[in-house]
Amino acid sequence: MYLDYYRSKKTINKKMNTNRRDFLGMGLALGITPIINASPVGNLINHKRSEKKLKILILGGTSFLGPHQIAYALDRGHEVTTFTRGKTIPSVYQGLFSKVEKLVGDREDNLEALKNREWDVVIDNSGRKVKWTEDTAELLNDKVGYYMYTSSISVYYPYYGDNFSEDRSVVLEVPEDAEGDERYTYEYGVMKANSELAAIKHFGVDRSIIVRPALIVGPGDRTDRFPYWLARLEKGGDIIIPGGPNEVVQYIDVRDLAEWMIRLLENKAAGTYNGSGPGHDMTTNAFVHGVHASYNSPVNYIQIDDLDFLKENSIIGIQPWVIQLPQYAGMSRSDNSKAIEAGLAFRPLSDTVSATKDWWYSDAVTRERRDNILSGARSFMQREKDILSKWKMKK
Ligand SMILES: NC(=O)c1ccc[n+]([C@@H]2O[C@H](COP(=O)([O-])OP(=O)(O)OC[C@H]3O[C@@H](n4cnc5c(N)ncnc54)[C@H](OP(=O)(O)O)[C@@H]3O)[C@@H](O)[C@H]2O)c1
Repeated sequence: MYLDYYRSKKTINKKMNTNRRDFLGMGLALGITPIINASPVGNLINHKRSEKKLKILILGGTSFLGPHQIAYALDRGHEVTTFTRGKTIPSVYQGLFSKVEKLVGDREDNLEALKNREWDVVIDNSGRKVKWTEDTAELLNDKVGYYMYTSSISVYYPYYGDNFSEDRSVVLEVPEDAEGDERYTYEYGVMKANSELAAIKHFGVDRSIIVRPALIVGPGDRTDRFPYWLARLEKGGDIIIPGGPNEVVQYIDVRDLAEWMIRLLENKAAGTYNGSGPGHDMTTNAFVHGVHASYNSPVNYIQIDDLDFLKENSIIGIQPWVIQLPQYAGMSRSDNSKAIEAGLAFRPLSDTVSATKDWWYSDAVTRERRDNILSGARSFMQREKDILSKWKMKK
């Protein structure tokens, strides 16, 4: 049953905190992605059904975010076309895809199906390389009204500082000495930042919408980041909560994000927006208790805020969106005030938990995937007891 976008109003932010200056000193290429405030949409954006029916092209659309965009768009009377290789099977809203035009190609080397076609708007969800966005934005420029690029808060990495608003400068080149995980994280953010620029280069500020989501959670998630907490808190017992009790937590329910993105398109809301929630400050403890409220399991929380210990035992990042390293400190501190002003609304955590649970225990998720979270060879739960023993010895 489960379901399932320059006006030359560039703002160059010269304000950088001390840490970011340090990075400049390291010779990184810092760039400003254009800040778009082209439409006075403000709180005019509302939840009413759109009068104008849109022809929407989604590059991607069959993975996590796309199906929710499709469900909402169809419900509001829009027409949707997807462009994929035809490999990924959606795990939510599968029944809706019969109402979607499906174009097949490859962003790497085959855009034939997109040629000589027209749409009102395009959503670029599947941007994984700057060249991919460069190519589609160039190809579609004369044929599509608005280009929406699904970016990420990762453009702000390294997250030194606080209150990451859209005019924050971003890194446009991976530092030569970055290695391992750090290099990977840089590459993703740099790719997203340069892809934003590629979209804007071809469509201009008036016809580009850039959305930078925080970690996306909810039904259809392809990662186990959020499902880990559902499974772990359902099981109960001695549970490690890494980090301090008052770390800030940010995430965005995939449905809130998807629906808001469609409304931005309906309102031609050109601009750059952080897409993060919830709508109020949430701490680690509030998050954990909020998730556990859906379960009856007896729990004993063991808070571990010793960074060295967390590092030694590879617990860093087990609470998915609170990574206890200085360069991640601001990861959950993106400023969502512009997005809220532009109509981003939030479901309560209980709703996110409940919908994700329904999906998690549906046929859309394999038993193997479910089991892996708690018992898989690489699962954190498998190591948790040993780590707890070490922690008790240390104390
Ligand atoms: N998940 C998060 O927490 C998070 C946070 C911030 C931002 N984001 C961003 O959100 C966006 C949406 O993420 P998502 O998980 O829904 O989708 P995604 O995994 O980034 O993209 C998958 C979609 O792209 C298609 N695709 C993959 N390779 C392709 C190719 N070579 N040519 C054509 N199509 C191709 C896939 O279909 P086929 O396999 O059939 O081709 C599928 O429809 C992404 O840009 C991601 O970076 C995600």
